[in-house]
Amino acid sequence: MNQFVKIAVGFLPMLGAALSTGAVENDMVQFDIRVNKPGADIAPTMYGLFFEDINYAADGGLYAEMIKNRSFEFPDRLMGWRSFGKVSVMDDGPFERNPHYVRLISPGHSDKRTGLDNEGFFGIAFMQDSTYRFSIWARQVSDKPSRLLVELIEPDADGESQVCGSVKIKVSSKEWKKYTAILKPDRTVAKGGRLRIFLDSPEGVDVEHVSLFPTNTWRGHENGLRADLATLLAETKPGVFRFPGGCIVEGTDLATRYQWKNTVGPVENRPLNENRWHYTFPRRFYPDYYQSNGLGFYEYFLLSEEMGAAPLPVISVGLACQYQNRNPEAHVPVDSLQPYIQDALDLIEFANGDTTTVWGALRAEMGHPAPFGLKYLAVGNEQWGPEYVERLTKFVDALRSAHPEIEIVGSSGPQSEGEQFDYLWPEMKRLKVDLVDEHFYRPEDWFLSQGARYDSYDRKGPKVFAGEYACHGKGYKRNHFNAALCEAAFMTGLERNADIVRMATYAPLFAHVEGWQWRPDMIWFDNLRSVPTASYYVQQLYGTYKGARVLPLSMDGKPVAGAADQHGLFASAALDESGHYIIKVANTSSEPREVKFNFVGMKKKASLSDVRIIYLRAADKRAENTLDHPDAVKPYETSAKISGHDFSAVVQPESFAVYIVR
Ligand code: AHR
Repeated sequence: MNQFVKIAVGFLPMLGAALSTGAVENDMVQFDIRVNKPGADIAPTMYGLFFEDINYAADGGLYAEMIKNRSFEFPDRLMGWRSFGKVSVMDDGPFERNPHYVRLISPGHSDKRTGLDNEGFFGIAFMQDSTYRFSIWARQVSDKPSRLLVELIEPDADGESQVCGSVKIKVSSKEWKKYTAILKPDRTVAKGGRLRIFLDSPEGVDVEHVSLFPTNTWRGHENGLRADLATLLAETKPGVFRFPGGCIVEGTDLATRYQWKNTVGPVENRPLNENRWHYTFPRRFYPDYYQSNGLGFYEYFLLSEEMGAAPLPVISVGLACQYQNRNPEAHVPVDSLQPYIQDALDLIEFANGDTTTVWGALRAEMGHPAPFGLKYLAVGNEQWGPEYVERLTKFVDALRSAHPEIEIVGSSGPQSEGEQFDYLWPEMKRLKVDLVDEHFYRPEDWFLSQGARYDSYDRKGPKVFAGEYACHGKGYKRNHFNAALCEAAFMTGLERNADIVRMATYAPLFAHVEGWQWRPDMIWFDNLRSVPTASYYVQQLYGTYKGARVLPLSMDGKPVAGAADQHGLFASAALDESGHYIIKVANTSSEPREVKFNFVGMKKKASLSDVRIIYLRAADKRAENTLDHPDAVKPYETSAKISGHDFSAVVQPESFAVYIVR
């Protein structure tokens, strides 16, 4: 990977970081980096990803399906579809858990037509000369074969349909069968396209599970994930991958909690679930937001493996969302938790069990006989109170006894501090969970005041998983550069405390520009394009240059505290597997800072030879990347020859720089 724009040293010195020219007026700051005394190891899981189906992240997003309500299972059975002619919804279809389908009957007049068309997610978009796999389950209604005409449509400004690609499908059996065809549009339609299906014979036809995918998907998996979005994920070099939520795990009631068993096996028979984000914010109301579960637990484990990230599933602890549902029936009685615990045990079997086990056999049948190597399991999302602790206790007992090899992640509640947080941490220690999940969506000043957050954490208790965080700008909750800079500054504190902080994942991950409920988010997209935010680049820089061991460093002879009063500078240092020194510095002040990096403990005869500097800086603190202007904030790279045991550099005002030193 080499996605950073390269700039010769000195060519654009004021834009980002450069080696020192002595032109900075304020005092030079000296960082001493002790290279002969590496500290804690930095966990391979240190920086990763958290996926939740919010903002149309799955259906309409990463999951490349282009048809909405493909199985006619939305409560309004034809939501997303327009029907014409003789169309009826039936409910005795071939897929037990998705029983609805549609019957198309000839209207009996050659000028009348029967059929239906689908609006996709915010319209269907397709690219000229790309190929798309259409598939449909169908059967003849009578003894004679029937025919379908399938078209990709671009409605023009006058409302007249332009056909951009079409195919005919002969349905030649009274038994349900899957029919597949490739469509190749003759033009690009970025917005408002539709997929139209006409009954093209006097004989009727039953249709079910209507699907359209690009053939170009992540790693070429048929009917898989959007290649551009999955590639962006992989390019952050994630070490851990948390899934499927978030509040999605809990459900607003227990019936709508995330149930992993509904997300595996043939996609046609994975039952629909509501998406709680469709109604959470009344002013961002999306009544057509459901979970098809096409991106389910198999796809998740596979993607984790392909990206080299350790999977970290989150399962329901038997509590529906505690914010939204205080009814007694939203809590499974403690003595009735067994099915929930069994779900957790079965998930481990699905991931790791051998192929003679029930769930291991299903994994093999789906295409992956080898185990996925699951090592972590989070029980509950943002749960709190004694009701959480008493339920978690049951899970911990069962998991420890059946799977002592699995590391358990408990919750510290939804806040970064306060009553629940203070109650839960000691409880997590008492239960001896392995990691505690902390969440913080906080403003700039919080992030800048927390650089030393983990310096004083108890080293004997559970480790920390910063499972959801993002800087939510005060009065300006967008993906602006300054939010990313605050995150970068804060993350130096995670890295310096890598002995206790073992994982960190920004949240949320994805947002469709036309269908978001929550922002900021790491990656924005529409149906054809995607754009990494400034925060994405911070995550990518940390993931790519994470290092293997922490190197102790001091600033002007004092421990780096990650405090805003240290000239606005935040820093961490690490040693990577190749013996390179990696230094990260965020300058949150509005002054350039001349810094000297002094490598203490190098052998007398040894000498530094070169430094690569990758830096993020924007012309404006509020700069943000958009689909139309994706390059407002992006990393630049420069390099220089150095020698001896030190070198000096200017860290530009409001910038983040990573130095890779040899
Ligand atoms: O990331 C969005 C939401 O924030 C998550 O679902 C939840 O865990 C948190 O409150």
